[in-house]
Amino acid sequence: MEMSRSSSFGLLLLLLGFLFVSSYAASDSVYDTFVQCLSSHSVPSDQASSIAYAQTNSSFTKVLQSYIRNQRFNTSSTPKPLIIVTPSDESQVQAAIICSRNIGIQLRIRSGGHDYDGLSYVSDVPFFILDMFNFQSINVNITDETAWVQAGATLGELYYRIWEKSRVHGFPAGVCPTLGVGGHFSGGGYGNMLRKFGLSVDHIVDAQIVNVNGSILDRKSMGEDLFWAIRGGGGASFGVILSYKIKLVRVPEIVTVFRVEKTLAQNATDIVYQWQHITDKIDNDLFIRLLLQPITVKNDNGSAKAEKSTKTVKVSFTSLFLGDATRLISVMNKDFPELGFKKEDCIEMSWIESVLYWANFDNGTSVNVLLNRTPESVKFLKRKSDYVQKPISKDGLEGLWKKIIELGKAGMVLNPYGGRMSEIPASETPFPHRSGNIFKIQYSVTWQEEGTEADKKYVNSMRELYSYMTPYVSKSPRGSFLNYRDIDIGISHNGKDSYQEGKVYGVKYFMNNFDRLVKVKTAVDPQNFFRYEQSIPPLPY
Ligand SMILES: Cc1cc2nc3c(=O)[nH]c(=O)nc-3n(C[C@H](O)[C@H](O)[C@H](O)COP(=O)(O)OP(=O)(O)OC[C@H]3O[C@@H](n4cnc5c(N)ncnc54)[C@H](O)[C@@H]3O)c2cc1C
Ligand SMILES: *[C@@H]1O[C@H](CO)[C@@H](O)[C@H](O)[C@H]1NC(C)=O
Ligand SMILES: *[C@@H]1O[C@H](CO)[C@@H](O)[C@H](O)[C@H]1NC(C)=O
Ligand SMILES: *[C@@H]1O[C@H](CO)[C@@H](O)[C@H](O)[C@H]1NC(C)=O
Ligand SMILES: *[C@@H]1O[C@H](CO)[C@@H](O)[C@H](O)[C@H]1NC(C)=O
Ligand SMILES: *[C@@H]1O[C@H](CO)[C@@H](O)[C@H](O)[C@H]1NC(C)=O
Ligand SMILES: *[C@@H]1O[C@H](CO)[C@@H](O)[C@H](O)[C@H]1NC(C)=O
Ligand SMILES: *[C@@H]1O[C@H](CO)[C@@H](O)[C@H](O)[C@H]1NC(C)=O
Repeated sequence: MEMSRSSSFGLLLLLLGFLFVSSYAASDSVYDTFVQCLSSHSVPSDQASSIAYAQTNSSFTKVLQSYIRNQRFNTSSTPKPLIIVTPSDESQVQAAIICSRNIGIQLRIRSGGHDYDGLSYVSDVPFFILDMFNFQSINVNITDETAWVQAGATLGELYYRIWEKSRVHGFPAGVCPTLGVGGHFSGGGYGNMLRKFGLSVDHIVDAQIVNVNGSILDRKSMGEDLFWAIRGGGGASFGVILSYKIKLVRVPEIVTVFRVEKTLAQNATDIVYQWQHITDKIDNDLFIRLLLQPITVKNDNGSAKAEKSTKTVKVSFTSLFLGDATRLISVMNKDFPELGFKKEDCIEMSWIESVLYWANFDNGTSVNVLLNRTPESVKFLKRKSDYVQKPISKDGLEGLWKKIIELGKAGMVLNPYGGRMSEIPASETPFPHRSGNIFKIQYSVTWQEEGTEADKKYVNSMRELYSYMTPYVSKSPRGSFLNYRDIDIGISHNGKDSYQEGKVYGVKYFMNNFDRLVKVKTAVDPQNFFRYEQSIPPLPY
């Protein structure tokens, strides 16, 4: 079954030759070799050619674009995969791994395609995409409060399938319903219930993964080290995740949401200052996210001399409370009266309605919308992240407002921690940013103009804001969140310096857990087949 060493060496030479001649020709030749290899690894040959798309195939572009979730990587100059493989059963995943290894082409693994820097479908080296979108099944068992969820399922589908069976169960995961389970869970996974329940990975009880040899492993056969690694260390450094088994959580029949907005003229500075002091300590049922954005307000104060408009910062306080409005009001009055919160701000609803509310669907939208895999629009995005461990002073906030106004389009999302997050030890999962963090910042810029000029301008505005924030955020290392992929914090060329390069971003994402991830990697994939621009390196040998 295995190819002999000399034949794969010959193939490599052949391949390199083709790669230099023409990428289309190379793609076709690699395609034939790959499809043949699949059929010699127990994939029937009609199946083999129907799951793999060559660049010349008329559906190639459509398949590629189906799960691109950042327009920045949807341009004619974005590097394209030689082949897209779309397996629909496990044996096809096994064969795809073995054949990519034999041919010597790197895999990029994609589930929902939301990687902010496109690392699941873009690379500067020749690569195949292993696209897991066909792995969509979800089996919810309410009796034992668990579910098996395949990697290509979306969060919206998961929430829907839970809701079909129970109105008092939910799952703590991301807010955007089109996120894929494969990337989201393996990278940590957080949402608006993290203060009560922690991260998605805190509720994973089993998993199925295909390793570098093409073997399917579950928790028992993979062992606790690898099982630990794929709960926050990113899946794609270790293998291909087929599915996760999760433990559901109980949610109340009635939850309460609110959104309150304040501009600088409405005391936003004082309120944000105060929010920092209570947000990680307040009742665990309460999650209050802040969105900070520059806006322009019209002045209409009767004065002829008045400027027509003023630039200011708008702070939106968006909340989920796992309880009813009466209790929410008493919590707010006691611990956060500065917001000037009123009963009329409260909206009581079911948990599944709160999922729709947080995903910005209009009141009355059918729950079925969660089954829709295609977002309404895909824009150009750049994101970065930070952790804040000491409240920022009022002067610090005033400076920040100036910076945000000056940059004009960059925003920030502040997500409170504390509660359950502080109770779970930092080494429990690879995700290290637990106790001691008040909130996480997501830096965010979204734009619609095409072209490299716009790209440069907006990406630079993110970098400038990030640099401005240096004195206020975690240091040595400055923490980052893996799911908020950011190639600015370091990339690996996966050559002889891969360990040193990997350590640069690795300690930011994983802090003291980086070393254990490297050990696991060295044990399960010493040759570094499962590598990408921010993968965990094996120890150098
Ligand atoms: C609009 C938007 C909203 C977001 N909101 C949140 C949020 O609320 N909370 C949050 O935590 N994050 C959020 N994120 C970030 C998101 O969690 C990550 O981008 C996550 O990795 C997406 O998973 P995916 O499967 O869709 O992505 P993909 O791009 O498919 O994959 C991301 C990474 O995981 C790897 N991977 C994917 N599938 C597999 C697999 N089956 N086996 C092994 N490796 C795999 C990829 O190779 C890549 O490295 C958001 C992102 C976007 C674009
Ligand atoms: C494109 O690829 C798909 C999947 O392999 C295959 O089913 C289809 O026949 C191909 N189409 C063309 C025009 O080659
Ligand atoms: C990608 O670009 C094409 C135009 O080239 C557009 O039709 C398509 O909607 C875009 N898709 C995504 C996901 O951005
Ligand atoms: C659900 O879990 C219970 C308890 O473990 C088990 O007895 C039952 O067979 C499961 N149901 C399904 C459909 O798997
Ligand atoms: C701002 O705060 C001050 C002092 O706390 C208060 O007097 C004033 O009414 C507040 N303004 C607004 C718009 O809430
Ligand atoms: C009206 O707004 C302008 C700012 O544009 C300010 O200078 C002026 O004092 C305001 N006048 C009144 C009456 O509030
Ligand atoms: C949604 O609209 C209905 C009536 O159209 C109203 O009764 C209900 O309170 C609204 N719910 C929310 C969450 O706004
Ligand atoms: C993969 O197979 C090789 C050769 O049979 C073996 O040495 C290695 O231990 C296997 N690796 C894993 C992770 O199973």
